[in-house]
Amino acid sequence: MKTIKNITCIGAGYVGGPSMSVFAEKCPNINFTLVDKNEEKINSWNGNIDNLPIYEPGLKEIIKKTRGKNLFFSNDIDNAIINSDIIFIAVNTPTIKEGPGAGFGADLKYIINCAEHIAKIAKSDKIIVEKSTVPIKTAEKLEQIFSKKNSSVNFEILSNPEFLAEGTAIEDLRNPDRVLIGGNKSASGQNAVNILADIYSKWVSKEKIITTNLWSSELSKLASNAMLAQRISSINSLSAICDKSGADIKEVSKAIGLDHRIGKYFLNPSVGFGGSCFQKDILNLVYLCKTYGLDEVAEYWHQVVKMNNYQKSRFSNKIIQKLGQDLNNKIITLFGWSFKKDTNDSRESASIFVAINLLNRGAKINVYDPQTSIEIIQSDIKEYSSNYSNILDSIKYINDPYKAVIGSSCVGILTEWDEFISLNWKEIKRIMIDEKFIIDGRYILKNIEEEKITYL
Ligand code: UDX
Ligand code: UDX
Repeated sequence: MKTIKNITCIGAGYVGGPSMSVFAEKCPNINFTLVDKNEEKINSWNGNIDNLPIYEPGLKEIIKKTRGKNLFFSNDIDNAIINSDIIFIAVNTPTIKEGPGAGFGADLKYIINCAEHIAKIAKSDKIIVEKSTVPIKTAEKLEQIFSKKNSSVNFEILSNPEFLAEGTAIEDLRNPDRVLIGGNKSASGQNAVNILADIYSKWVSKEKIITTNLWSSELSKLASNAMLAQRISSINSLSAICDKSGADIKEVSKAIGLDHRIGKYFLNPSVGFGGSCFQKDILNLVYLCKTYGLDEVAEYWHQVVKMNNYQKSRFSNKIIQKLGQDLNNKIITLFGWSFKKDTNDSRESASIFVAINLLNRGAKINVYDPQTSIEIIQSDIKEYSSNYSNILDSIKYINDPYKAVIGSSCVGILTEWDEFISLNWKEIKRIMIDEKFIIDGRYILKNIEEEKITYL
């Protein structure tokens, strides 16, 4: 088997950054180079260790050990491609905005650009690995590009989806439940699969490295995300019944999860799932079903996303019911901006939707989150609201939870950061004004304070 010396990853984001860091940690004899079209991002990966573009527990420590030794961040994309035996593609695949598939399908333009660029400059054989989540049959599109644009080089395409979850990325990468590698059944396809499996086997046991055909691998990633998100929408739908009936969703969740056939994971009720993957991937699955004429199947999965939107509206509606339709002159404090704890990522975070809904009714919003900033908040509001110019001035970031609740009629907990549990909630209620209404969308205050806390 060929000895691999150099690996490049295109896309130094939430997937590319942590994955290549752990690869570098576990494979000291291979050089890993991360490249990205965003030069500032690369500069920041090369800059101050306390100011990396991504916050992820444990990441900084690995970068300290490996950066400049066998992990490199570079703006020289062409040289990185030319010198590599394996190229991971970990660029983003957002939902299509216009034209066929708008609102559902995954936009593959960045992946296609990468393939075209690699085809243009590659001078030796390469293994190309789809790390980004892609629709089924993407590898076929890439194969067509490579054979049309550069027939003198052999490109072997593999699908190796990443299952890491943000906030626990390093632990997930060091100790994955499984590594999935899909490849062509041809001899050179299987050889490429073995090369990648051999690299993972430096730290992952053989039984956890599973190999499949390309299409199973591509679909398994979409299916895993859809199944996980489906559990959250299921538990959130039950939280709505609990709210009406007096049953307690935490008790129900525990009772269900203790059945070993069901299991306790992904049964935490919330203000709805966020993050860059779940909604995008389910919509992509829905689109895939529709293209195959499977309308009932499409509708089944679409309901998971609809349920999630309902849960986010239910949270803001609870606040509106308590404080009235007109929120002018009311201050509402949101604890949590990121889509889950232990990350600075706020893509698709429920906080954005709740904030916009309340801002549109005249509320003033204070946000406290240990990992966000006013720049991130404003850019999220701009991205998700066409009315942003009228509401942007009414939202503030206050980097102290006790100061953030001054004059506030309502505190909403949207992210389950551990530090929120240990806050002095009696003191918070004292600082707030009039109604003093706390709504816990993450059910983390249970057993701490009974009075004046509302659950979703
Ligand atoms: C994720 C996953 O890779 C993917 O599975 C999922 O489908 C969507 O996004 P993530 O790492 O979370 O990617 O995205 P992001 O943090 O935005 O990183 C993507 C990076 O690729 C960005 O830094 C972007 O600048 C870079 N990029 C994008 C390129 O270098 N070239 C491009 O052509 C496009
Ligand atoms: C997810 C998948 O878990 C991961 O395997 C895939 O590679 C990318 O997408 P991520 O989005 O980073 O990872 O985080 P995850 O932990 O799955 O949480 C997604 C959202 O669901 C968050 O908003 C989280 O708060 C929410 N969630 C999770 C719940 O509301 N309840 C739960 O019980 C679990």
